[in-house]
Amino acid sequence: AVARSSSSSSSTYVCARAYSSDSVPERKVAVLGAAGGIGQPLALLMKLNPLVSKLSLYDIAGTPGVAADVSHINTRSEVSGYAGEEHLGKALEGADVVIIPAGVPRKPGMTRDDLFNINAGIVKSLCTAIAKYCPHALVNMISNPVNSTVPIAAEVFKKAGTYDEKRLFGVTTLDVVRAKTFYAGKANVNVAEVNVPVIGGHAGITILPLFSQATPKANLSDEDIKALTKRTQDGGTEVVEAKAGKGSATLSMAYAGAIFADACLKGLNGVPDVVECSYVQSNVTELPFFASKVRLGKNGVEEVLGLGPLSDYEKETLESLKPELLSSIEKGIKFASQS
Ligand code: NAD
Ligand code: LMR
Repeated sequence: AVARSSSSSSSTYVCARAYSSDSVPERKVAVLGAAGGIGQPLALLMKLNPLVSKLSLYDIAGTPGVAADVSHINTRSEVSGYAGEEHLGKALEGADVVIIPAGVPRKPGMTRDDLFNINAGIVKSLCTAIAKYCPHALVNMISNPVNSTVPIAAEVFKKAGTYDEKRLFGVTTLDVVRAKTFYAGKANVNVAEVNVPVIGGHAGITILPLFSQATPKANLSDEDIKALTKRTQDGGTEVVEAKAGKGSATLSMAYAGAIFADACLKGLNGVPDVVECSYVQSNVTELPFFASKVRLGKNGVEEVLGLGPLSDYEKETLESLKPELLSSIEKGIKFASQS
């Protein structure tokens, strides 16, 4: 029971109850790349999450300031900031969930694959440390190109003998967030009620929103569906161009990353029926990694769900995305096995 002093506001009371450690397990979340464009708002959103008891913010520089700042927010978690590789072990020790938005973002004219040369090495070294310091953590990979960085992480963990396919996730939630927003606008339905699965990968044509399964149902024309599909596939580029050289999506990505991490924490805590789309090891298609709906549980992935019925347009689009997705997967595996 939580006592309420006569001077405290009702919101303080609600917070105190929600954050009572009697009912909510201790959970440590680490954010790697926490001083960056995504990392900072993501740190804020994770600080607001009552499921988090320890928030560990790591970057190569700048994290003490970010940590001091968010630590003043009067919510449950205790915040620590770590700057520099020599502190990475401490940042990771005991983590239940590690979120990775570390690495360079796109500028106009670049593809996500153009980030491979820099980000592949960053992801590799961070995953080597995860294998050493928190091998059982759920890893939420945000760094691009996600289609390749997830296979890189898998290879690093395999080499270290810690790989568990149930614990590695490519974060594709932003594609779902966009698909929901764009669909609600076109179908003129309440965005808060919209659900749209997004499958495939996280780059251009490899992103396949399944608008035929969108709810609430709406009678959209084939042209509308094609336009919505294209807008979802090009959502990242839309932001890169609007930011005109100052990076890519950060705020909407932090929101999406916070939703996905929250789902992982709920799954770990035994909340039933937590389902999100994610890019995971999969045998739903012939590709070794594929995004689809995933049921989350106490060990991470509890079940990779099937694709459900597809329209003819979605079937065709699915076939046409496979070569590009496979080549990005193979590129990641090759990098990790050669370096
Ligand atoms: P940013 O440049 O603003 O921030 C990146 C941060 O990573 C920086 O603070 C940098 O210091 C840090 N960093 C670099 N090397 C590091 C290392 N070895 N260890 C720890 N931290 C390191 O970039 P951003 O806008 O935050 O984007 C980060 C990544 O997320 C990019 O690769 C971007 O393409 C990707 N992204 C993915 C999605 C998605 O949907 N999955 C969405 C948006 C952006
Ligand atoms: C996005 O979808 O916004 C991210 O993958 C960033 C990018 O480069 O588009």
